[in-house]
Amino acid sequence: MIAIAEPPIHRTGSASGERVRVELGERSYEIVVAGGALDRAGVEIAAALAGKAGPDGRTAAILVNPAVHRRYGMRLESSLTAAGFNILTIPVTAGETHKTLRTVSRIFDRLYEHAVDRRTVIVALGGGVIGDVAGYVAASYQRGLDLVQVPTTLLAQVDSSVGGKTGVNFGAAKNLIGAFHQPRLVLIDPDTLRSLPLRERRSGMAEVIKYGVISDAAFYDRVSLEIGDLLNLTSGFLDQAIAHSCRIKARVVEADERDLGLRAILNFGHTVGHALEAVTGYRVYRHGEAIALGMVSACLVGEEMGITGKNVTGSLVDLLRKAGFAVSLDPGMDPNAIICLLALDKKAIGGAARFVLAPKIGEATPGHLATDAVVRSALARQRLI
Ligand code: NAD
Ligand code: GLY
Repeated sequence: MIAIAEPPIHRTGSASGERVRVELGERSYEIVVAGGALDRAGVEIAAALAGKAGPDGRTAAILVNPAVHRRYGMRLESSLTAAGFNILTIPVTAGETHKTLRTVSRIFDRLYEHAVDRRTVIVALGGGVIGDVAGYVAASYQRGLDLVQVPTTLLAQVDSSVGGKTGVNFGAAKNLIGAFHQPRLVLIDPDTLRSLPLRERRSGMAEVIKYGVISDAAFYDRVSLEIGDLLNLTSGFLDQAIAHSCRIKARVVEADERDLGLRAILNFGHTVGHALEAVTGYRVYRHGEAIALGMVSACLVGEEMGITGKNVTGSLVDLLRKAGFAVSLDPGMDPNAIICLLALDKKAIGGAARFVLAPKIGEATPGHLATDAVVRSALARQRLI
């Protein structure tokens, strides 16, 4: 396993950073990836909203948890104030357990108390939990407010802030209540990753690796080469890796915004990954850790079905290990519990689980139905890997 040190960031490339456009007709927007972008947020957000009255006198409602606010809130607020926005900061408690309608309702109360108007822009500052909650608030308050995502975890920067899926958990079900609501801008400042613990950085890196597997072998190779430096934030390739991950997601979302077909390939590793998260009550694995295990499961299921080559599994297992992920299934994990959950999954058909499979690195296809016997055999092999 590679040695992991604490930051700082080393960066090459232009100061204005990388820009990725998500082309969705009138819902198109830009993803800006640039060190120090937080200090330019006001100008960037005003430009993204130009055309709709403002920004003078317009309110920016910033949704943020207290810990992230302490680190980055003032810089965002100052930049927005300088650009002519009124600021309304709404604290939101951190954590998946607060990704609920109750939290949404409390935020509605604050927006109502402040009598915000329809020109208000909701700004999500934080990880995927804040982004999903803020997105749902923006999608529903007054039938839709503008939304800007300012993601500060690697997972949110490469995945959840892009593509317009918003929502909250309900009962035991994840993301059951939600809406598609595209942001007007995604503003990514990779310098914010400096304060993010390694475990969280690694969790996001699972999604970066996923993009390589499903869509771009050359990107996968570059990430493999630089994995240690990427996790340490010492790679000059970091901003490009974030931007390219967003680019891959953007191209998929452009082709299938409403998740009716192709978008499912973004769920490579998520079939077993989601089951592992659910079976452990969302308390054992960070999302990316479960997805890393699930990507290995998907490779082994693909091998059992004659679709994935052993070389693909071997390469992915090596890379995930180098990044410090567990790849073997915990011996304490009951395969029957996982198989039961897969059969109940809303994407299963006739009790057969649906998998995204990778015939080779750089290519994935959705919709493969795997029988219990195939999954059982794959999971048994994963215990011994
Ligand atoms: P998270 O939002 O819980 O953030 C993890 C922790 O990091 C939190 O405690 C947060 O306060 C802290 N944090 C955030 N930025 C920080 C920083 N720069 N420095 C230090 N600490 C920081 O978790 P996450 O992994 O970002 O997001 C997970 C959520 O994303 C899940 O709810 C998942 O369902 C959702 N998600 C949504 C999509 C989508 O398309 N909408 C895609 C993937 C995941
Ligand atoms: N995270 C999967 C998607 O956006 O579709």
